[in-house]
Amino acid sequence: MKLCTRHFPFEIGYVNMPFVPSDAGSNSVHEVAHCTDMLRCPLMRTPPDVYAEYRTMPGLQIHQLRVAAVGKLICEHFREPIDARSVILACLFHDMGNIIKSDLAVFPEFLAPHPRSYWEEVQREYIERYGDAAHEATISIMREMRLPDDAIALADGVGFSRLAFVRDTSSFEQKVVEYSDLRAGPHGILPMEERLAESRARYRGRRSWADEGGKDDFARLADAARDIESQLFAQCSIRPEEITDEKIAPIVADLKRYQV
Ligand SMILES: [Fe+2]
Repeated sequence: MKLCTRHFPFEIGYVNMPFVPSDAGSNSVHEVAHCTDMLRCPLMRTPPDVYAEYRTMPGLQIHQLRVAAVGKLICEHFREPIDARSVILACLFHDMGNIIKSDLAVFPEFLAPHPRSYWEEVQREYIERYGDAAHEATISIMREMRLPDDAIALADGVGFSRLAFVRDTSSFEQKVVEYSDLRAGPHGILPMEERLAESRARYRGRRSWADEGGKDDFARLADAARDIESQLFAQCSIRPEEITDEKIAPIVADLKRYQV
């Protein structure tokens, strides 16, 4: 018997569990992932546990789950070896700080069951705790969660403005995370072209690449996105059009029980 390092009042039994990655033991979080006290040990957490702890908005929860489901699906059909766990973890938490930059008036249906005033208060608390930059807040939260460095680095590398870098990197994990984010629109899975257009419309006036003056930038980034799609599906046994809401629904359900 050992003690769980973050939940020391309880004595926890350790066993070898199949979901523990091969590098288990490389840090204390992996080590205690062997913990068998699923009901009491906070380290045996699932994405819904984390989202509840961080009061993640419902729309952001389902977005991250969808992105992770797309990422998992691509990894399962990838012909080359790929670090699926890092991809999934990065996708599940890549937007954790996004309430900071959210316009809470845009998707009121995503705020239920709480009123907008509740989320405004959460937003204020996030800014107070993590600062006013959403991406940096996401990385701080992932570190606070003690997620593996590889997953944090992948989440750090995501962003529309980074599409050209992602196309040029040799990391297929980074390409999968970026591409998966490009397929999950606010209301579900979209073809990449529709998602690009939707992002541009949503960020007009807020991002230089989305404005009329940024037409060239947008075209350049959209071309990079198309290149990423080609790079990935050259190695994949499924096609982009096979990634649909119906296809990912059971994966989303499974991911709600994924051990984080
Ligand atoms: Fe996202």
